[in-house]
Amino acid sequence: MQYRVLGRTNLKASLISFGSGGHSRMGQSTGKSEAQSRDVVRKALDLNINLIDSSEMYGTEELVGQAVQAAGISRSELIFSSKAGLYQDKRLKTAAELEQSLIGSLKRLKTDYLDIYHLHAVRPDDYAYAVSELVPAMEKFRQSGKIRFIGITEGFSSDPSHQMLRKAVQDDFWDVMMVGFNLLNQSARDRVLVPAQAKNVGILDMFAVRKALISSQNLASRLKSLGERGQVDLDRFNLEAPLSDLLCESDCGSLTELAYRFCAGEPGIHSVLCGTGNPDHLAMNAKDILHGALPEKVRQQLMSLFQAVDSISGD
Ligand SMILES: NC(=O)c1ccc[n+]([C@@H]2O[C@H](COP(=O)([O-])OP(=O)(O)OC[C@H]3O[C@@H](n4cnc5c(N)ncnc54)[C@H](OP(=O)(O)O)[C@@H]3O)[C@@H](O)[C@H]2O)c1
Repeated sequence: MQYRVLGRTNLKASLISFGSGGHSRMGQSTGKSEAQSRDVVRKALDLNINLIDSSEMYGTEELVGQAVQAAGISRSELIFSSKAGLYQDKRLKTAAELEQSLIGSLKRLKTDYLDIYHLHAVRPDDYAYAVSELVPAMEKFRQSGKIRFIGITEGFSSDPSHQMLRKAVQDDFWDVMMVGFNLLNQSARDRVLVPAQAKNVGILDMFAVRKALISSQNLASRLKSLGERGQVDLDRFNLEAPLSDLLCESDCGSLTELAYRFCAGEPGIHSVLCGTGNPDHLAMNAKDILHGALPEKVRQQLMSLFQAVDSISGD
């Protein structure tokens, strides 16, 4: 495994990290048993993945906690990242309710501290509330030793042009940001990644593959809708086998390999999340990502093909 320093946190995070949410939710959304989901966490640990991301909203924290406990791994070798949603009873949470969220996550993950605690999928309109009401509470959690670093994540599906993180990156509270970035929508590069690098913010990448990049058919359908909106030039793609020329040129065995390696090679990204319920996928993705960044010529072509896209997340 390769590790990168997660910006100002100085944590050394594995290049591929394990996400317990997304469409798979460790397999809990795709019909897997709880034991199978715990096995995926075990697989992540066996692959020397040291960053595990969760959220109170995924319903998987308990399984993560059980799997980590069963593995008997020392707590200091792990980076636990979790998140709190901003809403409770259809209104914004108070600081006291945020503390209850944190206590719940600590209990389910069977730990007495989190390395990174994020506000989850913050909407652009809620950012000011998060700053005035919830950031001070998070600072108190940090002072009491319940969390080490403060993070924020965007709702990439509803905010694919990064309205919220564009504001957040101007502030100094955030040690870590979880950003939507993939080869289809690279708009985070100038809007978030470049300014985040200047502040040495740790960056976790989500949506590297999502739905759009797990198959040629899915990719072709996203390309068609981007073409209709004028954000890609369809004459530059073979819709029967999109990007197959670049797969060949970069010696990638699959679209998912192209997608994860593209993200891992992006300056400013420290770790790429993989959200899977399938241990074989996780092992393959870890191996693929370690093949290294894509050849520069391929990277430049992907940048040119998708330079105008900021309207889709890959869902
Ligand atoms: N706003 C937020 O804060 C937010 C939002 C979304 C996600 N996240 C975090 O980011 C993590 C990653 O989520 P993501 O959805 O962005 O993950 P992703 O890695 O982009 O996509 C994972 C999807 O691709 C499939 N997949 C993975 N490897 C594959 C392979 N080799 N071949 C075929 N299919 C493959 C998975 O299905 P299988 O289960 O079949 O492998 C899953 O449906 C989440 O778990 C969560 O921790 C945060």
